[in-house]
Amino acid sequence: MLSVALVSLAAASTAYGAALAPRATCSDGTVVSNAQCCNFIAVRDDLINDIFEGQCGEFAHSTVRIAFHDAIGFSTSGGKGNGADGSIIAFGTTELGFAANAGIDEIVEELQPFADAHGISYGDVIHFGSSVALSLCPGAPVVQTFIGRGNATVAAPDGTVPDPFNPVTQILSRMAEAGFSSDEVVALLASHSIAAQDQVEPAIARSPFDSTPAAFDSQVFLETLLKGTAFPGDGAHQGESESPLPGEFRLESDDAIARDSRTACTWQALALDQALMANKFAAAMAKMSLLGQSKPSLVDCTEIIPKAAAAPLSKAFFPAGKTLADIEQSCATQTFPSTLSTQAGTTTSVAPVPEQ
Ligand code: HEM
Ligand SMILES: *[C@@H]1O[C@H](CO)[C@@H](O)[C@H](O)[C@H]1NC(C)=O
Repeated sequence: MLSVALVSLAAASTAYGAALAPRATCSDGTVVSNAQCCNFIAVRDDLINDIFEGQCGEFAHSTVRIAFHDAIGFSTSGGKGNGADGSIIAFGTTELGFAANAGIDEIVEELQPFADAHGISYGDVIHFGSSVALSLCPGAPVVQTFIGRGNATVAAPDGTVPDPFNPVTQILSRMAEAGFSSDEVVALLASHSIAAQDQVEPAIARSPFDSTPAAFDSQVFLETLLKGTAFPGDGAHQGESESPLPGEFRLESDDAIARDSRTACTWQALALDQALMANKFAAAMAKMSLLGQSKPSLVDCTEIIPKAAAAPLSKAFFPAGKTLADIEQSCATQTFPSTLSTQAGTTTSVAPVPEQ
């Protein structure tokens, strides 16, 4: 573990000086604004090397998903858990039994022993880990990242995590109860840009939600607006929708939120502007990581989160074989523009995200 080699305080220059940021130099030479971030340099590197294997792959994706399922156990009026507190691991025997948490056990098997070995809380391994996971996904923003969460004291009750077969009104009201506007819900769904499913339709496990699951790009917003032409599975499973490309999976909730009058214009706006998508997502994600936490008692270690590479393309494109004519216009006030290009070639199947 890295130790703090030197801590220096800048000299006070005014009588009632503005708060002075203490600077610390960690043993690897990194200068941080709070010495507590030094230990998280090794946590970061070990997450990247030992768990994520340097990739925006299954475990990076699952860590972003568990950050949501942990944090959303929260209500602004209380009684629904303590938010971003690691309770999904600490009280896994309870929370992992909830239907909406199906499949989360796999990433818990990775993160729990990792947190124990590094002496960090489950809340920190999840929410710091989610930011580190995103740094491996080209196009992802740096999310403001805090450490110092204590141990969870109570399990979240069942029913806080939305299901993909829930009506839009139910999803939006559950999210509003936790403090999120409908625009913030859409922004958070940028996460489905780096996502695949196992549990909704197990026969086609690892099927991704867009054609570029290893890049944090706006393809998911565009591809969800394309006409669904066939069920990727048997169509018989709750929460499954028709999808536009072989091998691609569309959640019923994403299909509905893309087309609902309350959310369709934001959805379209994010499909068309990757930088906007990344910025809105980063803000909503940072907010989510603080649910139930007292910000002043945490330490901001954003400075040790690596910046992800740029997305391969700066704009969304129509997958080969698709054009503007395949868009189901859903925003009532702005027409989908005719400026996006179509990928060359003929329609190909979207490959599953490899299992790690
Ligand atoms: C609001 C309603 C949401 C619903 C109904 C929903 C539903 C789902 C479902 C059913 C899956 C597939 C799980 C599986 O079968 O393995 C999934 C995957 C995923 N979700 Fe969501 N989700 C929602 C919001 C979010 C949010 C807010 C985030 C994060 C900010 C998120 C991040 C992810 C990620 C990263 C995956 C992929 C996991 C992997 O590939 O291992 N989701 N979601
Ligand atoms: C949290 O729990 C772990 C393991 O049970 C323990 O070692 C640690 O001291 C606890 N931390 C706090 C802040 O109580």
